Amino acid sequence: MNPLNHVAIIMDGNGRWGLKYKRSRNAGHKAGLKTVEKIIEATIRNKISFLTLFAFSTENWKRPKKEINYLFTLLENFLINRIDDLHKQNIKLQILGSKKFSPKLNKILSNSEKKTSKNKKLQINLALNYGSKSELIEAIKKMKKNKNTITEENLSKNLQTKNMPDPDLLIRTGNTKRLSNFLLWQLAYSEIFFEKKLWPAFNEKDYNRIIKEYKRIKRNFGKI
Ligand code: FPP
Repeated sequence: MNPLNHVAIIMDGNGRWGLKYKRSRNAGHKAGLKTVEKIIEATIRNKISFLTLFAFSTENWKRPKKEINYLFTLLENFLINRIDDLHKQNIKLQILGSKKFSPKLNKILSNSEKKTSKNKKLQINLALNYGSKSELIEAIKKMKKNKNTITEENLSKNLQTKNMPDPDLLIRTGNTKRLSNFLLWQLAYSEIFFEKKLWPAFNEKDYNRIIKEYKRIKRNFGKI
């Protein structure tokens, strides 16, 4: 059976779910946050060490201001209310992407990272204002500045995901089959599952079914 150390998720479909069931995209984001909480618990139960969640892409700034503000308020309140509990559960929070938000949210994010930095049970990477192409460009710039030899190992060490294994498994909900500029380098050998359900409807049973299927795959990494 394949070991499973790192799961990455593109949580797609909040807007469609919200419009269909509550006539509001934002209601979909609120319900999506409930799924986030359930999937964190299920990740702990499955003894997985890293969970990377794509919460806001660099392209998402093109959305209406009202929706962007709602998403950030949701995130602020989530961290204000839940960070102590996450900390008590020995969960480490790390942000991927550049923290270019309101001073208030930037501070909440930095404080949450600092508070949980030594925790060991599960590392949650929240990709926020994240884009893989710009992460790669930044890494290459750093390598050039430090006169690093251009190798795969050095490039990996200059990404924001340094010090963690690449995702073994990527799940994208929402019945869309694309990577949307997410972890393009890190997903080179990941097993990818595209799930029809919209994120707010995704549950622990779906997650466990995918994990079970993943564990049975013969992973060759290019060999035969
Ligand atoms: C994609 O669905 C989802 C997002 C852009 C935001 C993800 C946010 C959450 C799951 C809730 C908040 C999370 C935290 C951690 C506070 P979409 O809006 O693109 O859906 P659509 O494809 O149906 O329009």
